[in-house]
Amino acid sequence: MTTVQVALGARSYDVVIEDGVLGRAGPLLKPLARGRTMAIVTDENLRPHLSTLQRALSAEGVASEAIVLAPGEGSKSWASLEALTDRLIELGIERGDHVIALGGGVTGDLVGFATAILKRGCGFVQVPTTLLAQVDSSVGGKTAINSAAGKNLIGAFHQPALVLIDPTVLDTLPERELRAGYAEVVKYGLIDDPAFFAWCEANAAALLAGDPAAREYAIAHSVAAKARIVAADERETAGVRALLNLGHTFGHALEADTGFSRKLLHGEGVAAGIALAYRFSAAQGIAPSDDAERVSAHLRSVGLPDGLAAAGIGARGARLVEHMLHDKKMDAGTLPFLLARGIGRAYLDRTVDLAAVEAFLDAEAR
Ligand SMILES: NC(=O)c1ccc[n+]([C@@H]2O[C@H](COP(=O)([O-])OP(=O)(O)OC[C@H]3O[C@@H](n4cnc5c(N)ncnc54)[C@H](O)[C@@H]3O)[C@@H](O)[C@H]2O)c1
Ligand SMILES: [Zn+2]
Repeated sequence: MTTVQVALGARSYDVVIEDGVLGRAGPLLKPLARGRTMAIVTDENLRPHLSTLQRALSAEGVASEAIVLAPGEGSKSWASLEALTDRLIELGIERGDHVIALGGGVTGDLVGFATAILKRGCGFVQVPTTLLAQVDSSVGGKTAINSAAGKNLIGAFHQPALVLIDPTVLDTLPERELRAGYAEVVKYGLIDDPAFFAWCEANAAALLAGDPAAREYAIAHSVAAKARIVAADERETAGVRALLNLGHTFGHALEADTGFSRKLLHGEGVAAGIALAYRFSAAQGIAPSDDAERVSAHLRSVGLPDGLAAAGIGARGARLVEHMLHDKKMDAGTLPFLLARGIGRAYLDRTVDLAAVEAFLDAEAR
């Protein structure tokens, strides 16, 4: 078992990572239940894991009520938020209660936001079940739903009280989802931890094949990296948390170009975006081109896209730059970019010329 603390003063919490912890969650959750019924929000694909969790709670005498969402990004909507908050009010959820989010980033983001606004804020617990949610979205307190104008535009910072990660639930996760989540793991090595990137190169195959030791190490290491960054810059105002957006500015444009559909999963967009960020950095003379090639080679070796063609994007530079102009990170007319001086040396650059990005993407599209 590994426990990582997210140090945020009065809002600090633990992230517990352990194979099988879902079935042993009763004693960990009982203090948060306060003798009352706990609401568990999940999605249809997680029924078996819901049963495990409910059994673990009832073994400790904790009653629970499940709320089951339709799987998919569509559940991060005003309509689902309304239905969920209505149901939580009906169940009598109080400020001092903790709602459990059992699922991927969709469930976590929706429940996080619902509990941020329900009765002006009640508690919640993250029990993430995708690799992406285990290494990224369940930690750090960003919560949101989508609006017609774009993804994650309506949201709040709201930290969970506890995060329980059971790597064995990944055994039922579709392989494509697992691989996509792995892009966020590699990202931590590329941001500021070249030794971890080297570990990824040596261990990705074992990790993706479900090797328990590799899986737990990768998750714990990723969570520790995220916890450190979030503790340094909880609300992304100090230029530190922004490092987590490595690969996301390019990636977001690719996702926008595919209409945020299942044609390109978020992690796949991030993988292609990371490769593009490194090649752009190399083209600008900022990063050694060997490093850019090493990054691409690793992404290709695990079956992740390493550029426009591999991501199935036929768009030219102008169209992709147009998507970037609608990025919510736009700041007074400039778009901060995550570039890299090499492996493990990402930095925030506010002076990137979008005309240069467009020309670079045109060359990439050829
Ligand atoms: N809050 C943040 O900091 C943050 C960070 C990154 C991403 N996100 C958000 O996360 C969302 C994506 O999350 P995701 O990739 O986890 O997607 P998801 O929640 O849609 O889950 C992916 C699919 O896997 C299924 N699934 C989940 N766990 C499973 C399991 N153990 N076994 C079988 N099937 C399982 C789900 O039902 C779904 O169909 C996006 O909306 C994104 O905006 C948020
Ligand atoms: Zn991401």
